[in-house]
Amino acid sequence: MSSFPETIKAIAIDKTGDINDVLEVKTLPFPAPTPGNVIIKVAYCGINFIDTYYRHGDSARACDAKGLYPIQSFPQILGMEASGTVVALPPDAASLQTESAEFQKRGLQVGSRVAVNFLGVHAEYASVPWPKVFPLPAAVSLRTAAAATLQGLTALAFVEEAHPVRAGDRVFVHTVAGGFGLLVAQLAKRAGAALVLGTTSSAAKAAAARAAGADHVILYNREDVVARALALTGGEGVDVVYDGVGKDTFLDNFKILRRKGSLISVGNASGAVEPIAPLKLVEKNLKLMRGAVLRREAIRHHPKDELKINIYKEYPFTTEGARQAQTDLTTKGGSTVGKLLYKISDE
Ligand SMILES: NC(=O)c1ccc[n+]([C@@H]2O[C@H](COP(=O)([O-])OP(=O)(O)OC[C@H]3O[C@@H](n4cnc5c(N)ncnc54)[C@H](OP(=O)(O)O)[C@@H]3O)[C@@H](O)[C@H]2O)c1
Repeated sequence: MSSFPETIKAIAIDKTGDINDVLEVKTLPFPAPTPGNVIIKVAYCGINFIDTYYRHGDSARACDAKGLYPIQSFPQILGMEASGTVVALPPDAASLQTESAEFQKRGLQVGSRVAVNFLGVHAEYASVPWPKVFPLPAAVSLRTAAAATLQGLTALAFVEEAHPVRAGDRVFVHTVAGGFGLLVAQLAKRAGAALVLGTTSSAAKAAAARAAGADHVILYNREDVVARALALTGGEGVDVVYDGVGKDTFLDNFKILRRKGSLISVGNASGAVEPIAPLKLVEKNLKLMRGAVLRREAIRHHPKDELKINIYKEYPFTTEGARQAQTDLTTKGGSTVGKLLYKISDE
């Protein structure tokens, strides 16, 4: 390990709280060798809404009573998504090779280009358990990988598993111009959805969502979302709603779903959803699902059915850059369209 620096720069917090009070670039020790963990030299970091949940740690806004996004110890490096190059294999790699067929199959080597999905990777170097480290096909750039891994796996899991979209389905996505929303719109269309509806805050963001496949985009700050969704479905409602807004939109979902529809709660941008009685589902025989994505999929590259990853902006890897990125992401009606990144080093 002697060729590595003694310290690294990382976006970290010493306590939970508001953006300008707690979020900063810190100098921390180079990660210690840990059995089972790979060290990655990070090139790009993907910025996600979940980074803001860990940062504010506010149970009224995003967590259950125990904290859905608990932090075990401080300082905590933020970030769940990054790409880069393997610079050290686990110190117990030799025994992993003989004990774990899955480790062998992963084929990780020093120099492998990888994407990672694990808390604490917004740093120059990150220590990541090997099951969360995915080798990249040569055709996928490190920039694309950092932009596509977390929201991509989430969108796939929700469109293929939580409510498998079928040909003819009518699909509704809140904040359809966001990172997750643009991917759901594309995947739903690819699965044969007859109608993809979504919400956003501006005409420019609506145009981006239409380019991703949304048929109609409702401007929630100017239009009556429930009335428009019902009008666009001939009064019947939609087969599935994907809702990452949470508190502010949750109850209206019951009005825009058709009988036997699926309500897929994916996040809490506006705050945690209040508890509901299961009997609320009986009115329309609805299914309700709230999932988190822990898929361990090989990252595949299918040139024929590539998804378009819309990268909104690269933010500087500085305290100001981190604060600006989280401010932009959490501004209701803000300008972000698609993915936010930090670039740390070259490919
Ligand atoms: N369960 C999982 O495993 C998982 C994984 C990934 C993402 N998610 C969830 O999916 C949702 C989208 O995540 P993302 O990372 O792709 O972010 P995103 O949708 O790109 O988030 C940014 C957009 O959200 C909207 N927004 C910001 N603050 C808001 C607020 N207070 N209330 C309502 N809308 C607000 C704004 O769009 P408008 O201008 O359109 O309002 C903003 O441009 C989040 O809820 C996230 O937690 C869940």
